[in-house]
Amino acid sequence: MTIPVPEFGLVLLIGPSGGGKSTFARRHFRPTEVLSSDAFRAVVRDDERDQAASADAFEVLHLACAKRLAAGRLTVIDATNVRPAARRPLLDLARRYHAQAVGVVFDLPPEECHARNARRYADRPFGPEVTRRQADDLARSLPHLREEGLRRVTVFRTAEEADAAAVVRHRLPPDRRRDPGPFDIVGDVHGCLAELLALLEKLGYTVRRTAGGWDVGHLAGRRPVFVGDLCDRGPDTPGVFRVVMDLWDRGAALCVPGNHDDKLLRWLRGRPVKLTHGLDRSAAQFEAAGEALAARVRDFLGRLPTHLVLDGGRLVVAHAGLPAEMHGRVSGRVRAFALYGDTAGGAAAAGPPARRDWAAGYRGRAAVVYGHTPAADPGWVNRCLCLDTGCVFGGRLTALRWPEGELVSVPAGGAYAETSRPVRREAVPSEPDA
Ligand code: CTP
Ligand code: MG
Repeated sequence: MTIPVPEFGLVLLIGPSGGGKSTFARRHFRPTEVLSSDAFRAVVRDDERDQAASADAFEVLHLACAKRLAAGRLTVIDATNVRPAARRPLLDLARRYHAQAVGVVFDLPPEECHARNARRYADRPFGPEVTRRQADDLARSLPHLREEGLRRVTVFRTAEEADAAAVVRHRLPPDRRRDPGPFDIVGDVHGCLAELLALLEKLGYTVRRTAGGWDVGHLAGRRPVFVGDLCDRGPDTPGVFRVVMDLWDRGAALCVPGNHDDKLLRWLRGRPVKLTHGLDRSAAQFEAAGEALAARVRDFLGRLPTHLVLDGGRLVVAHAGLPAEMHGRVSGRVRAFALYGDTAGGAAAAGPPARRDWAAGYRGRAAVVYGHTPAADPGWVNRCLCLDTGCVFGGRLTALRWPEGELVSVPAGGAYAETSRPVRREAVPSEPDA
């Protein structure tokens, strides 16, 4: 049995005393990754079995857990965790810090656990009722662990199963830190195929027409990274997807989804969505393009990570931007921010949701490159750069060369749609390393 554990996440070991939790933790995790209630009892009272120390011990354990999760560290909780009240504060911390929580349950017969403890604690034995009560609490908990917020629950029924298990750590989808680039990050395309091809050529890509569409490559091995909103409003959304997916399929481009792409995906999946904000145009174009392309786009969009952390963590690409505490993390709130931005809690009385300027408060070290909000002149604000220069509204299509920091853009061939928002100007342009 292999247990997949995210490189960043919270692992709850759950089971009666003597079930084998500490043994398992020692075998599969680094000592500093494991927060054990016994160890914190010893920290506060010099005695890891002093049950009177439990309240203080857990207070410190919860604080240590919060600090580790805030810092993006894998954290393993070695405590019985058999009661909902014990799990709740830990799962609350996981939610607060966008850590995926997984459970490893030692559902062994309480008599067996007691027998192990009797051997282990020959000097100060406790009665068999202790592990029996813990096993009862566990039995009541088992059906509810998933709904409490554990994404995956592995249950060992025997000591042999626990001994045979292997832990496999997996990288979270946004984590592409090992990819150093160089990249050309491309702003919101919105179906503007001609401008996309022109921009790629200007960036030094070779663009050749083939029987099936377009063959795009770069002799220096540069790769485009698309900030999302490939679709809607513009003249050739299917054509844009063909170019991007051909690159993406051979690992020659990266892409994150935008809010328009997300809505298109829901339409492609047959969900009820309103054909507004240019989706009507994409829908008509997809109906003309045929089901095979629609299926391919559905698959493609379904695989995209909400955002990307690149180049050793120096670069983050997210459609609507992303505050530092969300970089590299996976949760519903991270996804919502990456797609829609800081909407300050929903729609205004009339019109689209208010967009707060999250970049003004950004204090992270990574550069955050995004799109979503058209601006006439892209400028760095606190190491954040919006590349949406409103191509589909008759502006320009813009790319950022990374790591060079150079902006490259081409003018729109026309205004394909009317904007419902004023195209704003960036307030205080500055350099990325200012
Ligand atoms: N043990 C064992 N074989 C295993 C697991 C554990 O023989 N596969 C033994 C350990 O050596 C130890 C006892 O069983 O003496 C209890 O295991 P431990 O991992 O310490 O159990 P925990 O669940 O951590 O118990 P507690 O909640 O009391 O810390
Ligand atoms: Mg233990």
